[in-house]
Amino acid sequence: MKYVKIRRGKMDSRMAEEYKSLRTNIQFCGADKKVIMLTSCTPNEGKSTTSLQLAISLAELGKRTLLVDADLRRSVLVGKLVVEGGETLGLTHFLSGQAELQDVRYATDVPNLHIINSGPFPPNPAELLSGELFQQAVEAFRDVYDYVIIDTAPLGTVIDAAIVAKVCDGAVMVIEAGGVNYRFVQDTVSQLEKSGCPFLGVILNKVDSKKLEYGRYGKYGKYGKYGGYYGDYYGSSSNSGESGSAKASARPKSQTPPKPKAQAAQKASAPQKAGSRPSGGKRTPAPQNRAGEQK
Ligand SMILES: Nc1ncnc2c1ncn2[C@@H]1O[C@H](COP(=O)(O)OP(=O)(O)OP(=O)(O)O)[C@@H](O)[C@H]1O
Ligand SMILES: [Mg+2]
Repeated sequence: MKYVKIRRGKMDSRMAEEYKSLRTNIQFCGADKKVIMLTSCTPNEGKSTTSLQLAISLAELGKRTLLVDADLRRSVLVGKLVVEGGETLGLTHFLSGQAELQDVRYATDVPNLHIINSGPFPPNPAELLSGELFQQAVEAFRDVYDYVIIDTAPLGTVIDAAIVAKVCDGAVMVIEAGGVNYRFVQDTVSQLEKSGCPFLGVILNKVDSKKLEYGRYGKYGKYGKYGGYYGDYYGSSSNSGESGSAKASARPKSQTPPKPKAQAAQKASAPQKAGSRPSGGKRTPAPQNRAGEQK
């Protein structure tokens, strides 16, 4: 198997802790949740960043992990890879019959982590993902890996993620804090559920760390009410070395995970109800347009 290095940004200890919490929460979803996809309503909410960090975090725990970049329209993973010896082959090479599965998988400098890059942008991404080859590949991965993390395109914009969802054991929504109208999130989650894929929860991303501090010091007392109602937070994660203001949290739909350490921060940062009911209101300013290609 060929080998690539992953360019990793700096991450402070708080962020690293949040990713560990997310990892724990994913593990608590159950042993049958091996193939997990991440999607969002709109572009740029942090799916790829979170997918990569989650995959690294699982691999660091000793889990055999595969990260698949199935966002065939806009890959960012390739930009994070240092490849020796020229161009990498990707998922689209395999799905279009130009390469074998073993040729598009790469070992990385993170022990236990393999990756599949998306490959060149194809004219027919949805068709490629709905073909038998993709399904067969995912089935083959189940025997080899403890976790397969699949990064996808935003479901609120294009249909691809719903197609991918059909072969996954669970789906997680990455939501940019304050960036998406809660109805849009509800619609997107319904669409996900129609594919038959269990919805595991949300990751609230790009949370303003100043607000976390307010929560911590009790200035925003009103957030306290979430502490009781949402006391079973599933966890939290924040990502990327680019910003110190990241905070995210994810909770499963039906399980009761251990309480996270940073309770106050989560009260302020993740007032969504388990199973896709973000609080809306003050945290979801403007409705988003469903721009671009539609289902
Ligand atoms: N928690 C965070 N804090 C600050 N910046 C972040 C955070 N998460 C992601 N970003 C930044 O937001 C931008 C978009 O991130 P990313 O590419 O992961 O989003 P995406 O949802 O995969 O986008 P797309 O829909 O285009 O695939 C990047 O510049 C990334 O560095
Ligand atoms: Mg992406």
